[in-house]
Order: sequence, then structure tokens, then C-alpha cells
Amino acid sequence: MDGPTTTQSARAGKLELRELSKRYAPGDPLAVDSLSLTVPAGQVCVLVGPSGCGKTTALKMVNRLIEPTDGDILIDDRSVRDRPAAELRRDIGYVIQQVGLLPHLTIGANITTVPRLLGWDRPRMRARATELLGLIGLDPERYVDRYPAELSGGQQQRVGLARALAADPPLMLMDEPFSAVDPITRERLQNDFLRLHRQVPKTVVFVSHDIDEAVKMADLIAVMDQGRLVQCATPAELLANPANDFVADFVGADRALKGLSLSRVEELDPASAPIIVVDEPLEAVSARIDAGELTPIGDAVLVVDRRGAPLRWRRLTDLGRVPSDQDTAVVEPLIDAMDTLRDALSALVESSSTHGVVVQDGVVQGVVSIEDIIGRLTPPVPTESAAGHG
Ligand SMILES: Nc1ncnc2c1ncn2[C@@H]1O[C@H](COP(=O)(O)OP(=O)(O)O)[C@@H](O)[C@H]1O
Ligand SMILES: [Mg+2]
Repeated sequence: MDGPTTTQSARAGKLELRELSKRYAPGDPLAVDSLSLTVPAGQVCVLVGPSGCGKTTALKMVNRLIEPTDGDILIDDRSVRDRPAAELRRDIGYVIQQVGLLPHLTIGANITTVPRLLGWDRPRMRARATELLGLIGLDPERYVDRYPAELSGGQQQRVGLARALAADPPLMLMDEPFSAVDPITRERLQNDFLRLHRQVPKTVVFVSHDIDEAVKMADLIAVMDQGRLVQCATPAELLANPANDFVADFVGADRALKGLSLSRVEELDPASAPIIVVDEPLEAVSARIDAGELTPIGDAVLVVDRRGAPLRWRRLTDLGRVPSDQDTAVVEPLIDAMDTLRDALSALVESSSTHGVVVQDGVVQGVVSIEDIIGRLTPPVPTESAAGHG
């Protein structure tokens, strides 16, 4: 059978807003005012702006929870107006802050809400729920048959994400999905999301009022003010060149520091660590130092296990000593190669260490210092208002 390949191209997920406007009631100001925006397939666009600027309204017009007053929305060049709302919504993942899991359904059944509407059989739904629970870091065996009330807020938020991903929609709408959870959980959810997105790229429109979240998550940031689009740019471009004072205020005076969120530690190409393997004979260590193959930091070397996982820093002068309990103190800070430079800097400052040990899958990759990171701070291009005086 030579069926048309429309499903492939129809599922790419390019999103285009054209002169989109919404007025809730006659006499009201426009909640969304001639918003034009294109999100290429597979990219994450974060809509930011102060409360009430029209972010949620814009998002809800995409899956027709709200009908536009004017303008149009195209997904892969096809107007959403030409598609029945119910069918459209099955093709668009939707994640909101109030997760909205159904309390009387198990986690598995909540996750497979859309697949059930699409008529998947039970084994396929079960397999998909299991796969997704694994992806979001919840043990499937433990959680698939539990009920939402048995989960923490952060876990429920994860399940909400899994539910939105269940039928593998090409387009995801996420309205402040992580803003109701504590900062640590939020950071974990953001990282989970980014990891998932690298594995299965989708077009995502993500609403946030948090510029840090936007810088971290976005390929494109769209800044809105009073229903209008003020600037749409990559995070780096937005931080370097805010279009006007409103955007400059919104991104904040510390935008150079925020720029550190755009690079990951692995990009720094961490310097090699002065590693010795546990039980390495002292003579071998001395020989390597003499040969210039091992350069201690200060007078310390890093002891790793046979797999390369860090065990402890040791002073060279203490190497001959039998390890004591104190020597097994954890290595701090441990920095993951995928951490942002900003997170790495925080970790270094918090632990008052000059060097952090960079690991990947638990194995030492090198060391990174505060100076290495500061060296990556590029002074922002002055805005006109800042440059004007002088
Ligand atoms: N259902 C509604 N009826 C009337 N006005 C609304 C409704 N929903 C939102 N608005 C108004 O539209 C504007 C944009 O709201 P919203 O899109 O929720 O902003 P945001 O998500 O950026 O906080 C606000 O002035 C808000 O009061
Ligand atoms: Mg909102």
C-alpha cells in the first residue's frame, strides 16, 4: 500500500500565530493584541511577561479553549479553525499548573487519557504508561496502580507531563507547569523536561513569568506586554540586546550573570583532574608527579575508585597514611557535566571551594574553578539608555 505520507509531515508541529487578537468583551482592552509569532518545528518557545499580559489567553487560542477575535493560528500551515476542537486537542499536549489529574483514576489510567480516546488497546496503553513513568523518573511498578492523592505535588506534576506526552503529540502547550512546586522540585522538573525534549523533540510553547526559567528552557523567548509582543529572540540575544527598557527591566540588571545559564559545564572543557586511583602505589604517584603527568591542585590530589568515581581529596603529605574515617568525607562540590555554568558557580560559592569536581555518570571528567566560569562572563552590550550618559 502506497499511502500518502501526510502523517509524517502533518506531525512536524510548526506553529504560526498570525495577527492574533482576543477581546473578551466589548469595551474591554485587547487581552492579546495582533500577536504574530512563528515557532519552528521542534523548538521550545517560552512566552514571558508580567501577570495579565495575555500569555494564557494566547496559549488557549492555540488549542481552541478560547476562540480568537481576530487573526489566525496555523499548525503545519493548516488553520486550527479548520479542525474540530476535540480532534485538535488530542493532537496537542496541554500541561497546566493545576495538574488536574482525575482522583478516582489510577496514575496509569490518568496518563493514558488521550490514548484511550484514540482507541488504543489495553496492553499498548499499559506499555506506554510504563514507558512514560520510567521517562519521568517514577518507578512504574510502584506507581502505575496508585492514585493521585498518594503522590506529592512534584510527582503529580510529573504525571501531568507524562499524560500530555502519552500520544506523542507534535505540539505541547505548557502554562506555568512548574510554578506551584518548590524551587528544588522545579529545577528537577525543568531538567527532566529538557532531557525528555532532547530525546523526543517537540514543538513547545511554554508560558512562564520567570525569566530565569525562560533562559534555561527556551530556544526562543517571546516577551509580551499588555497583549503585544515586545521582543522575540534567542535567550542569548535577549540578554545581550534587550529591545527596549521594558525588556531590559524584565530580564534584570544581572543579565550577564543570567547568561551563564546558557552554557553547560562540559562546554568549558574542564581541566583534567589530578587523579590517583585508590590503592595506587605511592612510588607510582611520585613518578607521575615527577614526569609532569600529575599536577596537584594546591598540594592535593583526587582519589577515585577503580571505576573513576571520586572518593576524596588527599594532601600529598598524607598519602602514606592509612585512610581514616575523616578521609572518606564527600567531595564537594560535585558538578555534573550537564549543569549550567550558573548552577556550577552557585555550587562553588556555596561550598566555598575553589575547585569543583566535574562528573559524568558519576565518573570524574575534570575540575572547574570559579575563575574558569567568571572567564565566561561576557559584559553585556550596553543598552541605549545605559550608554547615553557619559
Ligand atoms: N475569561 C476572561 N474574561 C475576561 N477577561 C479575561 C478572561 N481571562 C483573562 N482575562 C483578561 O485578559 C488579560 C490577559 O489575561 P491572561 O491571558 O490570563 O494573562 P497572563 O496569563 O499573562 O497572566 C487580563 O487582563 C485578564 O484580566
Ligand atoms: Mg496565565
